[in-house]
Amino acid sequence: MFKTLFAEKDVISFSDFVRYALYGPNGYYKKNFTIGPEGDFYTSPSVSKLFGKTIGYFFSKIILEKFPKDKISIVEIGSNNGELIKNVLDFFVGYHLDIHERLEVFVVEANLSAKNKIINNLASYKDQITIVPSISKIKSRTKESIILCNELFDALPFDRCVSRNNKFFQTNIFTDKKNIFERQDKADKNLIKFMKRFNLKIRENFFFEIPSFEYEQIFKDLSEKFDKMFFLISDYGDKSDYFNLSSDPFGTARCFYNHQVSRNFYKNIFNQDITHDVNFSLLTKIAFNYGFNEVDFVSQNRFLLDNNILDIYENFDSLEKIELTQQLKKLVLPNFLGEKFKFLSLRN
Ligand SMILES: C[S@@+](CC[C@H](N)C(=O)[O-])C[C@H]1O[C@@H](n2cnc3c(N)ncnc32)[C@H](O)[C@@H]1O
Repeated sequence: MFKTLFAEKDVISFSDFVRYALYGPNGYYKKNFTIGPEGDFYTSPSVSKLFGKTIGYFFSKIILEKFPKDKISIVEIGSNNGELIKNVLDFFVGYHLDIHERLEVFVVEANLSAKNKIINNLASYKDQITIVPSISKIKSRTKESIILCNELFDALPFDRCVSRNNKFFQTNIFTDKKNIFERQDKADKNLIKFMKRFNLKIRENFFFEIPSFEYEQIFKDLSEKFDKMFFLISDYGDKSDYFNLSSDPFGTARCFYNHQVSRNFYKNIFNQDITHDVNFSLLTKIAFNYGFNEVDFVSQNRFLLDNNILDIYENFDSLEKIELTQQLKKLVLPNFLGEKFKFLSLRN
């Protein structure tokens, strides 16, 4: 199973392992996996259509204010089954046909196994959408774009590091051909360069995560495609002056398998998600290098309440509201998804 992983090197970085386990030929994100109750984890779009509709409301304000004329692209990156962008488009059809008619829609999903789900979910928009496997494949007729992603950055490969006596170490992986083991080695020069470049503080003896090149690639690819962008990023995590986001000495790296959280990275390989919290301070600094500036940073709870989720909910009939009430609570209440998830808005 690990033959290809160690084909070129006896010892590999944690990020190479995550890339292999999630995005390699048999990777978790190459499979036709399910998000929601039958899968390994929930995401807000899988909890309720209220989530996408509220983002639709937010975007309608942004589009009318910042992109008032002409055609505009809307791009969702890492859409998986397309549920989120469908609910955003449904909002425009219900309340802003004027905006809907100006839209060119791109659904960017690296997982080709998700394509049929996207086609099914977006059947009523089939003449308006283009599904592409990467940002670089977008062929837009406009240089202006609204971009969104939910739980994209937490799903990208990352390294795990720790500082001990002011020396940096990284987690590396090796095998005895049967099992995988990890060890801490002196951090390589690229990781040290990255830490110096983004210059956040580091808490001694506490592990932290360093995102790999895929993070920057997203901003680089977008800035090569569009001249004027508004980018809404929703994910779990927080801002911090430190690389360390957590008070847990182990850091935030974890796995999801059948809705169970663990740190068994080397079990259920290809069949479990590996993830970490997004450091939004770091993300903002990275985005800045590609011309993006922060517009706003709020909790999911604040974002949804400020953008009319309660009115959107009220507009459903009483039968539908029975189901939506529980979903609304899950999205908004601080002890469910409301505080752990954040919304970062960027503009170039
Ligand atoms: C955690 S899932 C989130 C799915 C969906 N956004 C949601 O909230 O339910 C992350 C998704 O991002 C996709 N992905 C990862 N890297 C990508 C990239 N560079 N371009 C497009 N999609 C990507 C994965 O294939 C996966 O479907």
